[in-house]
Amino acid sequence: MYKGSLVTIDDLTNEEIEDVLDLAQEMQKDLRGFPALASGHIMASLFFEPSTRTRGSFESAMKRLGGNTITTSDIRSSSMEKGESLADTVRVWSSYSDLMVIRHPWEGAARLAADFSSVPIINGGDGSHEHPTQTLCDLYTLKMEHGSLDGLRIVLCGDLKNGRTVHSLTFALLRFGAQIIFLPGEGLELPDHVKYKIETEYKTPIQKVGAGDLGALYNTGSDGETFNETDIDAVYMTPSRSHQLTMYQPEMATQLDLKGQNLTFYVTRRQAERDENGIIHGNKSDKYPRISKRALSRRFRRSMVLHPLPRVDELSPDMDSDRRSKYFIQAGYGVPVRMALLSLMTGLKPWRKGITKNSIDSKTDQISVMPRGIRCENPSCVINKEAHNCDPELRLLVKPEIRFSCKYCEQVIVPKFYGTEQGGRKTYNPISRLPFKSRHQLFQFYFFRSKEEATEQGFSRSSTSSRDNPRILEVQN
Ligand code: NCD
Repeated sequence: MYKGSLVTIDDLTNEEIEDVLDLAQEMQKDLRGFPALASGHIMASLFFEPSTRTRGSFESAMKRLGGNTITTSDIRSSSMEKGESLADTVRVWSSYSDLMVIRHPWEGAARLAADFSSVPIINGGDGSHEHPTQTLCDLYTLKMEHGSLDGLRIVLCGDLKNGRTVHSLTFALLRFGAQIIFLPGEGLELPDHVKYKIETEYKTPIQKVGAGDLGALYNTGSDGETFNETDIDAVYMTPSRSHQLTMYQPEMATQLDLKGQNLTFYVTRRQAERDENGIIHGNKSDKYPRISKRALSRRFRRSMVLHPLPRVDELSPDMDSDRRSKYFIQAGYGVPVRMALLSLMTGLKPWRKGITKNSIDSKTDQISVMPRGIRCENPSCVINKEAHNCDPELRLLVKPEIRFSCKYCEQVIVPKFYGTEQGGRKTYNPISRLPFKSRHQLFQFYFFRSKEEATEQGFSRSSTSSRDNPRILEVQN
């Protein structure tokens, strides 16, 4: 991957995030005060999906810094329409620019772009995977409007499954010690791979709690039905201590106690364009959290409302004049934040706090392998769109259990069985008995998600007992 690219929020350390926010604050004081900083520099913006704020604020930011922009905003106006690969498009555009912002409907597209680019890539949103620069804008808004990134209590509402802004924001908030409450639309809960990452890499258990007062946000308006009895997920972190992943143990709270709390509601729309199963149809009577003056009422008097925008019907226009609403201010902050990011990523301003190791080193304990029988099955992942330009290896994680994750979309595949072929005999066993000492040995094995998958491929259940087949896990690189 091109060093210095920003593909996921994990590519920035907490110190680097703070550098961006500090510099943004300085630049915001006088947006016209840096007219020659990036003179002679060109930013390419490759937008293969609609965008108002991300493209607009990136281009405005580059121009305010005295730089230039070249852009393609429609796949039909580029040679991709003639069958050119994303890899070739990126290769060529990187020779026209000093840095490239890319938005694409495929998950992992930014990662592929970074592999083929000769200049830094900034992910402006890749399918439902991540949107790290929106997170920088969200954090900046929280810092400016809440006063600090410490002690945040934030309710992430709406399409948590497909909302890429939510995924990047969740990981960043965990690193800054926030307490997060997930309030999804029905069927739009956090995807398994994000939950997995929260629990394994961020080492934070997700607890089920009663929705309590938050049930009022599911009020459909038409029949006034509320869902106070609903269970929702929450993660608790040590309050007021950023950069720490020490866990706060609230003795397994069963009901949220939100009285008098300073809450932030981060509202998102249904990502209808990513609706592969037709469950996102925007029916007013759906169980989907909606914010309006009535829903917030006096109960959430001390709250703040953010939204990455665009909104559809989940955020009532009657909130626009409400002092709790900060979403238009949040959109405006996109310019100073992106001015700061561009200045730092092009080396025009120094990273003041220095480059340090990420506090969450998500790559720890991970090695690349090419297991037989298992591949990324996410149809929107770049590996299933442009396989010939992708690395077919998966990441292997062994703790707390054996699993593979796609390098591009990060979706997790948990094999339940492994198979071996010896003297023409094909047998399978539960994964808990997998005996291997080094990654090289992994080539001996096949992996299956289910017994059916194993049987379909001609494997039969091994009769060996677990005693004869001890579990040895010692992975060496
Ligand atoms: C978001 C996006 O594109 O993911 N918009 C944005 O960049 N501000 C949110 C959305 O489209 O719902």
